[in-house]
Amino acid sequence: MGLREFFIEDRLEKFRTEAPCNLGESGIRNLHLDQLTEYLNLDWRELGKLSLADSPNSGRKDLREEISKLYSNVSPDQVLVTTGTGEALFIAFHLLLQKGDLTSLFWPAFQALYEVPKSLGANLQKVDLLPRLESKELGFGKENLNNLFQNSPKLIIFNHPHNPTGIIAEEEDKNDLQRLTSNFPNWILFDEHYRFLSEEEDLGWSGFGLCENSISTGSITKCFGVMGLRIGWLIGPKDWIQKARSMKDYLTHTVSPISEFLALKLLQNRKPLQSKIKETLCANIRNFAHATQEGKLPGIVSFKEPRGGVVGFAKLQTGLESRKFADLLYEKVGVFVLPSADFETEGYIRLGFGETEERFRLGLERWSNLGSEVIALLNK
Ligand SMILES: Cc1ncc(COP(=O)(O)O)c(C=O)c1O
Repeated sequence: MGLREFFIEDRLEKFRTEAPCNLGESGIRNLHLDQLTEYLNLDWRELGKLSLADSPNSGRKDLREEISKLYSNVSPDQVLVTTGTGEALFIAFHLLLQKGDLTSLFWPAFQALYEVPKSLGANLQKVDLLPRLESKELGFGKENLNNLFQNSPKLIIFNHPHNPTGIIAEEEDKNDLQRLTSNFPNWILFDEHYRFLSEEEDLGWSGFGLCENSISTGSITKCFGVMGLRIGWLIGPKDWIQKARSMKDYLTHTVSPISEFLALKLLQNRKPLQSKIKETLCANIRNFAHATQEGKLPGIVSFKEPRGGVVGFAKLQTGLESRKFADLLYEKVGVFVLPSADFETEGYIRLGFGETEERFRLGLERWSNLGSEVIALLNK
């Protein structure tokens, strides 16, 4: 089975650059290079001295050292620097999965997390998180976690903070995971792409190391507004990472030394920028929640605030088709959001909270001007 088109990317590619208000993006608003250098207090002469030779295949050592410090008990030779988390996932799935292997994951999901396994012939076991959005309870919940481990899957994919719901692992979830992984013989992959933006202090929790066969993927790109740097990573047992490196040699082989250099500086000096970004995110989430509670956003009936990451799912009025609604919102008031149909689920839209506060507020204001058109859409 081949890879189908990447639904969200098709829409994002079409609208992200021209949307007057982009409330659908899955990353923080991108920085310019001079803004980044200012935040990092970077000396341009240092950048000027950078060699443009190929980087080491595993990634430069000081960057791998810096990444390894984000985890407990991880050494630099357990780190493979990749072109985005996308490449890290692609490699992991190709190394771990074969035709017929059961693969368990939360649903809805970022498409690469199930599309690549499906293309390799894996059978999917989906654990539906949407009822969690309707409940007041936090976290993934005991039943969902038990379901994830049911039938002893060959691979469990645990994405947290979760895209698109914004759910993070709460203390009870972590204890449950500890119990469930203690005798788990197969593989568990923690996709921790949004780990830098969690309600927890500093860094969000990582599940890496809970059991022997655990791996983790991570990135700086979306959390810090540096998507174009395309730096991600894969963490795993040392000998497994060697195999992953060898597979990467068939793909992008090495990453750009300029991206690696900037990623290194960013990780070394991330905290002030990270705090500032978290403040903006919280403000945008709060503003969206207030506007929903006050009934100011036509089409939206409820919204559970995300506890981590940049995105969240808001529930649409019954009877609205998410694609038609997203198209209408864009055509009438210039506000871009992603329809849940692009996550192969109906009844929601996915929001991104990474815009500047000013633009986000403007987006909400424009949205509130949408009127009878929504009702007309219901009657179509
Ligand atoms: C959960 C999750 N994993 C992986 C990726 C892919 O990351 P990258 O853009 O670094 O390849 C994304 C991107 O949005 C994501 O949301």
